[in-house]
Amino acid sequence: MDGLAIFAQGVRKRFGAVEALRGLDLTVREGEIVGLLGPNGSGKTTFIRALAGLVRPEAGKVSVFGRAPGQAVAAGLIGYMTQAAALYGELTVEENLRFFCALQGRRDTERAISEALGTVDLEDRRRAIVSTLSGGMRTRVSLAAALLHEPRLLLLDEPTVGVDPLLRRDFWDHFRALAGRGVTILVSSHVMDEAARCDRLGLIRAGVVIAEGTAAELTARAGASDLESAFVRLAEASA
Ligand SMILES: Nc1ncnc2c1ncn2[C@@H]1O[C@H](COP(=O)(O)OP(=O)(O)OP(=O)(O)O)[C@@H](O)[C@H]1O
Ligand SMILES: [Mg+2]
Repeated sequence: MDGLAIFAQGVRKRFGAVEALRGLDLTVREGEIVGLLGPNGSGKTTFIRALAGLVRPEAGKVSVFGRAPGQAVAAGLIGYMTQAAALYGELTVEENLRFFCALQGRRDTERAISEALGTVDLEDRRRAIVSTLSGGMRTRVSLAAALLHEPRLLLLDEPTVGVDPLLRRDFWDHFRALAGRGVTILVSSHVMDEAARCDRLGLIRAGVVIAEGTAAELTARAGASDLESAFVRLAEASA
């Protein structure tokens, strides 16, 4: 499994009566940007949480850089930006980031915070109380928090929801630059222009990957004119 950032095979996870993952397979090579697309409730967040060691599948294999997810997290290999902001609203931006640095045992805190804030273009809000920021700004702070310890795998769960188009483009320039330095990125999204920027896409429906490939491959396979209609056709065909 050399060169593989993510290896998932036959992953199953049930929450009571809900089968969130029903035998999901996905492999991601180091340095790739892979997008996860799928309807609400199809299992994207559950799968990402399994990779972050927060959900324990009942069956199947999950490894990150050849290790169990919990070990990969402990080794500082994974940065996870959650779908719901995991920030303390009553603290400042800087205090939140210091807290994440402390959790990760990071020493050069000030440099890490400055770099991460520079990346998301929020240096001027460093001392702002998080609850006073706009929604998109809070998203940017969450991304900064995921970048602090320079992880080798970034898990981004709908990272650009509420982020304006200009900044979304900046985010993607930055994701691309990180990938150029060998960082692997798994990103869930409902935004098609964003999906088109990924190296490869996995379409998830009802807890399984129903199709994977580049945006061009998937569009051609579905005989569609664009990715959005390809996605709808492939999802309908698998129903
Ligand atoms: N902790 C939990 N307890 C119970 N059910 C859960 C839990 N987490 C997820 N589920 C259920 O598992 C299914 C998959 O949810 P998940 O959050 O993975 O979907 P998603 O693809 O991320 O959706 P969205 O696009 O809306 O974010 C849903 O039916 C959801 O209600
Ligand atoms: Mg989700």
